[in-house]
Amino acid sequence: MFSEIMEDTTKDLLSQAQSVINLAASQEDLENIRIGFLGRNGKMNELMAGLLHVSPAQRGELGRVLNQAKREIELLLSKKEEDLLSASSNLYFDPTEPSIKPNLGHLHLITYAAREIMDIFERIGFVRVRHPEIDSDYYAFEALNMPAGHPARDEWETFYIADNLVITPHTSNGQVREMEKGYLPIKMINIARCGRRQSDVSHSQTFHQFEGLYIDKGVSIANLKGVLEYFARNFYGSGRQTRLRPYDFRFTEPSFEVDVTCGLCGGSGCSFCKGGWLELGGAGMVHPKVLRAGGIDPRKYSGFAFGWGVERTYMMKAELSIPDIRILYKNDLNFLEQF
Ligand code: PHE
Repeated sequence: MFSEIMEDTTKDLLSQAQSVINLAASQEDLENIRIGFLGRNGKMNELMAGLLHVSPAQRGELGRVLNQAKREIELLLSKKEEDLLSASSNLYFDPTEPSIKPNLGHLHLITYAAREIMDIFERIGFVRVRHPEIDSDYYAFEALNMPAGHPARDEWETFYIADNLVITPHTSNGQVREMEKGYLPIKMINIARCGRRQSDVSHSQTFHQFEGLYIDKGVSIANLKGVLEYFARNFYGSGRQTRLRPYDFRFTEPSFEVDVTCGLCGGSGCSFCKGGWLELGGAGMVHPKVLRAGGIDPRKYSGFAFGWGVERTYMMKAELSIPDIRILYKNDLNFLEQF
């Protein structure tokens, strides 16, 4: 009699479990149901305790019924758990849902500058080449008519990595390297990173230069001047002019500093430029010794070279007012995002 009541109760319990499991809406619900039915103080264990009051003859049979019910509840729970999981992952599978837009960055200002410079020279036939940014003393100085110990080297404030190895302090190391490739004429632009031991508002230890080199038969200062004018007009605007000021480099003869009229005052002189002119950088006719170092006969060929800082050249655009060159390398997003 008692065991029949227990069997009925077990059936009731099972159908009770079925309906609450059916209604469960979350993993948390399921866990509460599991505890309520199968936990240590749960309903199943309560029933199990009743087995003590059943005659030993009936105990085995009733025990099997109870265990069967327990297994069924476990099965229902894990089945429902799977259903809930796949339902929740279905929720996220909506191909029409807008995705999260990633933050798009852009190239660095100096990369833009280098590309803009290169575009202009490409239009008149210059080709971009690359030469080492860490190079031997030979290409950085010696082949450029600056033997070891020569005081002219002081101007370049060079970082030596080893006795014979420098972080190139200018892109002129590419001159003799380009000549050694063995073809003529040469019409190259070498843009590269450079390093010098100096740091102030207009100097950064890391900076970039672009080096132009043109070697052919009969190249003259007039050609140099023409290319500079062309560049200044296209890069800065039609109103800007250039001038060549005598200077001395060991690897060019004659040598010049190239100036361009100030974009703020148009060349009449203001507090920014002082005398109306801004200095771009060095240039000159390639020295015969340098041509020879590159295996070129200076009696047959001549050429010009120029080498300017990318940062400096870019900062001299009238519309930019960058007060300190070093901000270019500070990874300051407030600054960089403006461009
Ligand atoms: N290399 C020189 C510098 O860094 C610039 C230069 C290049 C001058 C080519 C003449 C010819 O200052």
